[in-house]
Amino acid sequence: MARLVVVSNRVAIPSRDNQAGGLAVAVRSLLKGRGGLWFGWSGTVAAQDDVTTRTIHQGDMSYVVTDLVDADYQEYYNGFANQVLWPILHYRLDLAEFSRRDLSGYRRVNAHFANELHNLLQPDDIIWVHDYHLIPLAKMLRDRGHRNRIGFFLHIPFPPPEILTALPNHEWLIPQLTAYDLVGLQTDNDAGNLARYFENECRLEKRGHLVYQTAERMVRIGAFPIGIETQEFSRLARRSVRSPLVRSVVESLAGRALMIGVDRLDYSKGLAQRMDAFERFLAVYPDWRSKVTYLQITPKSRSEILEYAGMERTISEAAGRINGAYGEVAWTPIRYVNRAYSRSALAGLYRAARVGFVTPLRDGMNLVAKEYIAAQDAEDPGVLVLSRFAGAAAECTAAILVNPYDPEAVATSIAHALSMPLEERRSRHTALFQVISDNDLNWWGEHFLAALTNDGSSTPWHEQLGLTPPLFTGLA
Ligand code: F6P
Repeated sequence: MARLVVVSNRVAIPSRDNQAGGLAVAVRSLLKGRGGLWFGWSGTVAAQDDVTTRTIHQGDMSYVVTDLVDADYQEYYNGFANQVLWPILHYRLDLAEFSRRDLSGYRRVNAHFANELHNLLQPDDIIWVHDYHLIPLAKMLRDRGHRNRIGFFLHIPFPPPEILTALPNHEWLIPQLTAYDLVGLQTDNDAGNLARYFENECRLEKRGHLVYQTAERMVRIGAFPIGIETQEFSRLARRSVRSPLVRSVVESLAGRALMIGVDRLDYSKGLAQRMDAFERFLAVYPDWRSKVTYLQITPKSRSEILEYAGMERTISEAAGRINGAYGEVAWTPIRYVNRAYSRSALAGLYRAARVGFVTPLRDGMNLVAKEYIAAQDAEDPGVLVLSRFAGAAAECTAAILVNPYDPEAVATSIAHALSMPLEERRSRHTALFQVISDNDLNWWGEHFLAALTNDGSSTPWHEQLGLTPPLFTGLA
């Protein structure tokens, strides 16, 4: 029976992790009840002599995590992954800080992961690699003799070749994706961009729609929009809205409408533009002053990187300036909070909010948008204001879609959302809830694994993995 081996930079070991982001939460839910092996970074930066790789068994899961030394952490994680790939894949060439040393650290850590996996893999394992930290991993495993089916999923955007070719050494890095059997992206747009790269830069032979032939294998590209556990999140929100924390927040609003944003402190989230838009809203719609409170929950992240540290000051100064200009003794327009809250607290707060304010400048998917929808009371739902540049916009067309670079238009959309009649709110919410129920997290995982293991053999993928038959039975 084939085993599922998941590889990602962050690994969320149940009951231990407190740093689980979107990817780790999704993979953790996906593996729940399926079993398998999850390999990645332990989250620890150790001295050279203290580096270990250890296995933790929990139920039918094995977690194998390895430490990084400081040079790895700086060059691979802070350096090439987050100061080169992250900005470029988010269309921000202006923020990329390329250095050959960081690229070599990135290769070194990928080789370290490949060496560790080499000792763990069995010939019929199905391997699923996640995200931009690990693009060269399949090639490194192939070089070590592994012929397994290997899939890759990119959780963040994939830009057009016109942007990507500005990345020094893209000719080395991006063609390594052809060592995977299947490359999954969030949207059709991302998939089309990679297809253009394969065709124009790698000159790969096209064998069908999004199918390419290399000397070694057939590589397929597909769009697999990631989802959430919609029903579970909806239940969580129903329960949590009655929790003491959410009740106390609602009481503190004194009848005012709540607008909520939840994002890591990251330039891709467009927080400065969002504050700007809210300021315009207060300026242009004075009747709403003192009637709405904007709660922005923004845990700090990647603070060792200059741009991130700089943002901490810029955003809190913007919030302070707007509060100073428009606030009253009994009303603070923006509550800006830098700490992380539990999923349960967030679910309740989403449900209590009249508007979900999700306006990234560029985002792979943005699961906050989907969680906000799932959390709403279908009888009296809130309204989602969503950036057209979030991957979620491709599915969530019934949200109010906005251009985050246009503060005047976003201000108008906030007013539209706050004053939307119940009937329109309900019909938009019904459409949105339908989409996120149909394309939930389970569907995403099944859809991807079905495509990865669909090699023309007569053994269905779920039997190869020893699972019960899926809800999903065909490939779109
Ligand atoms: O895919 C992007 C992502 O890895 C998300 O899963 C997560 O929210 C975020 O970036 C976490 O970043 P980091 O692991 O650098 O804290």
